[in-house]
Amino acid sequence: MASGGTLLFIFTAICVTAVKSDEFVKIECKTTNVGDYGQQSLLECVIKTAELAQDATIRLVIWRKLTSPEDEDGLPLVVFAKDKLNKKSGYRFAEPLWDKKNMNVSLLITNTAVEDDGYYKCTVITDRGDSSMLNTLKVQARYSILTVYSIPEKIVPNKDSTLICESHGGYPRGTLRWFDEENHEWTGSSEMEATQSDDGLFQLTSRLSLLRGSTFPKYTCAVFNASGGKEDEFTFETNIPPPSLHGSEEDSNRVEIYKIVVPLVVIGSLMVGLLCVLLIYRWGSHCEYTLLVSYLMI
Ligand SMILES: *[C@@H]1O[C@H](CO)[C@@H](O)[C@H](O)[C@H]1NC(C)=O
Ligand SMILES: *[C@@H]1O[C@H](CO)[C@@H](O)[C@H](O)[C@H]1NC(C)=O
Repeated sequence: MASGGTLLFIFTAICVTAVKSDEFVKIECKTTNVGDYGQQSLLECVIKTAELAQDATIRLVIWRKLTSPEDEDGLPLVVFAKDKLNKKSGYRFAEPLWDKKNMNVSLLITNTAVEDDGYYKCTVITDRGDSSMLNTLKVQARYSILTVYSIPEKIVPNKDSTLICESHGGYPRGTLRWFDEENHEWTGSSEMEATQSDDGLFQLTSRLSLLRGSTFPKYTCAVFNASGGKEDEFTFETNIPPPSLHGSEEDSNRVEIYKIVVPLVVIGSLMVGLLCVLLIYRWGSHCEYTLLVSYLMI
C-alpha cells in the first residue's frame, strides 16, 4: 500500500516536471522577418502559456544576435533579469510599457542597419517553464536611381567607346544588366564591379564596351535586386543611327541614280539606232561602225 502511494507520487512528480517545461510555456516567433534599411524592424515573439500557467511571471528574457544559427553565446541586445532591463542602444522591447507580466516580448530595432541582417535568439525563463526560439532578419535597401554616361562624352560612329552605369546604396548585392532597344541583352559584353561602403551598402558599376560599327542608337541599363526584381532602369541615347537604316539609305541613293541613268542609256541607244537607219538609207553600210561605237560607249 505504502509502496503504491510512493509510486503514484513519483509518477505525478515526473508528469508535472515534463509538462512544466514542455507544455506550460512556449515562445512563438515569426521566424523570418524582413527589415528595411534605415527603418524600424520588428522581430515578433510572444510567450504562449497553457491554461494552468495563465498567471506566469517572466523572470528572464534575453535577446541575442548570433553570428550563425549554431552560435551558443551571441551578443546580448536586450536583457531582462533580476527585475532589471538592460538594452543596447537602438534595440528595445516593441511593447513600450513592457513589464514582467507582458507575454509579448517582440524586439524592435529602431534604425535598421546592414549589420542587423542575420540570426537572433530569444530565450525566456518564467516561473512556469522556459523556452527559446531562433529567428532571422533579412535587411534590404533599395538601389538608388541609376546614372549612365559614356566615355568619350560624345560617341563617334567609327571609334570604340564605353558606357558606364552606376547605382549605389542597395542591399543585398544586386546586378546591373544591359539591353538594346529591341530588348536583346548585352550584359555579356559588360563587366560589373560591386563594392561595399562602410555602412555595408553596395555600390554597383558596370562598363559596357561599344565596338565601332556595331553601336545601337539606345541602350538601357537596369538594376536588379538580389531576388531578381527590377528596381530601376535608365535609357541612354548614343545618337548613332542604327546600322541597318544606315545601309538602306545608301541603297536608296543608288536606286535614285539608276532611275536617272537607265532611261538616258535606253533613249540614247534608240536615238543612235534611229540615226543609223537614216544613215544606211543615205550612205549605206558605213553606219555599222557608228553603231558599234555607240554600243561600246554604253
Ligand atoms: C507585440 O507588440 C508589438 C508592439 O506593440 C505589436 O506590433 C505586435 O502586433 C504585438 N504582437 C502580438 C502577437 O500581440
Ligand atoms: C526586389 O524587388 C522587388 C520588385 O521591386 C520587390 O518586390 C522585392 O521586395 C525586392 N527584394 C529585395 C530583397 O530587395
